[in-house]
Amino acid sequence: MNKLKQLTGSCLCALLLAACTGGSAETLQSPDGQLSLTAGVKDGRPYYSLAQGTETLINPSALGFILEGGPLDSNFRLKDVRRSTFDETWAQPWGEDIEVRNHYNELTLDLEERDGLKRQLSIVFRLFDDGLGFRYIFPEQENLKQFVIMDEVTEYAFPWDAKTWSIPTNGTKYYEALYTASPLSRKDTISTPATLEVRDGLYLTLHEANLTDYASLNLAPEKVGEGEHLVNSSTEEGVTLRAALTPWSTGEKVFAHAPFATPWRTVIVGHKPGDLILSRLMLNLNEPCKLEDTSWIEPGRYVGIWWGMHMEAYTWAQGPKHGANTANTMRYIDFAAKHGFSGVLVEGWNYGWDGDWTENGDAFSFTKPYPDYDLKRLADYARQKGVRLIGHNETGGAATNYEQQLDSAYALYRSLGIHAVKTGYVNPMLDHKELQHSQYGVRHYRKVIETAARYGIMIDNHEPAMPTGLQRTYPNLMTQEGVRGQEYNAWSPDGGNPPEHTCILPFTRGLAGPMDFTPGIFNFRNPVYPATHPQTTIAKQLALYVVLFSPLQMAADMIENYENQPAFSFITSCPTTWAKTVIPDAKIGDYVTIARKDRSSDNWFVGSITNAEARNLTLPLDFLDPDASYKATIYEDGEGADYKSNPYPVKISEEEVTADSILTLQLAPGGGTAIRIEKM
Ligand code: NOJ
Repeated sequence: MNKLKQLTGSCLCALLLAACTGGSAETLQSPDGQLSLTAGVKDGRPYYSLAQGTETLINPSALGFILEGGPLDSNFRLKDVRRSTFDETWAQPWGEDIEVRNHYNELTLDLEERDGLKRQLSIVFRLFDDGLGFRYIFPEQENLKQFVIMDEVTEYAFPWDAKTWSIPTNGTKYYEALYTASPLSRKDTISTPATLEVRDGLYLTLHEANLTDYASLNLAPEKVGEGEHLVNSSTEEGVTLRAALTPWSTGEKVFAHAPFATPWRTVIVGHKPGDLILSRLMLNLNEPCKLEDTSWIEPGRYVGIWWGMHMEAYTWAQGPKHGANTANTMRYIDFAAKHGFSGVLVEGWNYGWDGDWTENGDAFSFTKPYPDYDLKRLADYARQKGVRLIGHNETGGAATNYEQQLDSAYALYRSLGIHAVKTGYVNPMLDHKELQHSQYGVRHYRKVIETAARYGIMIDNHEPAMPTGLQRTYPNLMTQEGVRGQEYNAWSPDGGNPPEHTCILPFTRGLAGPMDFTPGIFNFRNPVYPATHPQTTIAKQLALYVVLFSPLQMAADMIENYENQPAFSFITSCPTTWAKTVIPDAKIGDYVTIARKDRSSDNWFVGSITNAEARNLTLPLDFLDPDASYKATIYEDGEGADYKSNPYPVKISEEEVTADSILTLQLAPGGGTAIRIEKM
């Protein structure tokens, strides 16, 4: 890469542009002064650029829209400029830490078309120490009331090509794909989050925040010279990304009426991979909590009648192997109560599973249990034992059928003390027509979250639109799928998720929000697809409880597989909501170590995982209280452990540690280490 060319400051660039063309250029600094944004209008076209110190991160890049009837990205004049600054600290009811500082400088450009309809558009930029967010606002106005967005022309003109971790948009269903790294210039359209590993010391994640009544963001790369850009990059190596919104079946992207605000486009800027995980930029760009009372929202662990179906030991449908029967569910409730789990998920309890349920989702009833499932008795039994049933609402993608039953279903669950529901949409087309991540899907999912909040119900959304931080506003949106999770280790024809998968997720999908990945498989014997199983050791399954954040965390295996397993004690002791998170060490795709402090004790938990390579990692415990001693219980790969041939050995040992201790973690191929560190 040509470093000299890379050092072309974007501020300078924009100012020169402005001077040459009679345009305008406004600048904005992050609170720590490290990041600087330039934004303005050049030849009637709005643009922005971003720099870190003297280094350009994003060259002048186009902003605007193509509306039905014509473009809204040119012929503008800058009518007004507004600036403000904001600094507050807010508390998360659950999360990877408690306190979140929301500190930014804001610049708003109020634009108006120079002639003709004189339509108005505002662009709001917020610059944080850890990155940029910007959104468009269509103010209320005479000549723009109802409108249709055919395309968003937002661009990101990078001055270099970069190794990028992403999943392709086309051909991927439910965001369930393996994130792979390749130069941005060689990618087809990608979904966000996408993480650019530009070089040692510079990592960027592109995503969006507060996806409300809009289409999900995807990004289409164009090499320099391929497209018509506002300003051609100053190097031959540059790559420009252009927004590619998920369409309706009829081709439009978004139906809107002014006043209207788009989601935020986000760029996290980190020096280390761990900085990306610690960024709370996406949450900060969502609205504060809208729920008056959040005391009923309870993070926790759950078990479920689930893996048994994926192993074909049980069926969802009625018949001799029906898993969701009363006796089996009681067994799960007893187990949950004995081992301190707060929830029991039961799939296949309701009418609709017989036949091709992915095609015939309209057959699902969300209130009518199968005859061998005594819903009322089980809900009461669970409650008496201090456990709650978790409702399961697979819709087969029949969103309208689900919406019609939302009130009656949630009222029933509430009356039974069921306060969490796992939703599912196994059919990439909602109502056989619209993509899940289209505006149609986004509207549907929001209706579910808001209705659930009114009934005091927490949501675990499988097959969602990509998460964008809405849990800040609706903390009953606990966790979501949109990830190639554990279930692929049951039936995926490629043998399961490869070992590097979970070493990539924290830096990609994990940045969009909690993942219901469902760790904790202890028995890798697969009677249906013998070659498919978790490509991990057992110790790595344990470490995933710390590495992959989710406030509802499943112990995914059939409960009989946890009997007489000493390693199970890590799962039953591991919290699911945290006071603080630190990332001692990470290399995307190779390994990651995460340490998290419990909210209700002074204990810390560590998860460290590797890809297919064995490695020794050094872990200084300098995050511990320097004035205390701790007991560390270490669950590590045992003698000869290897994800391919010998996943089971786990060595459990104890030692006294302090903040001065430095542990050496020995990770087997595909292995991991999980550590509980209790204050003495
Ligand atoms: C796919 C979900 O991800 C999985 O967890 C669930 O068991 C099935 N759909 C059936 O709803």
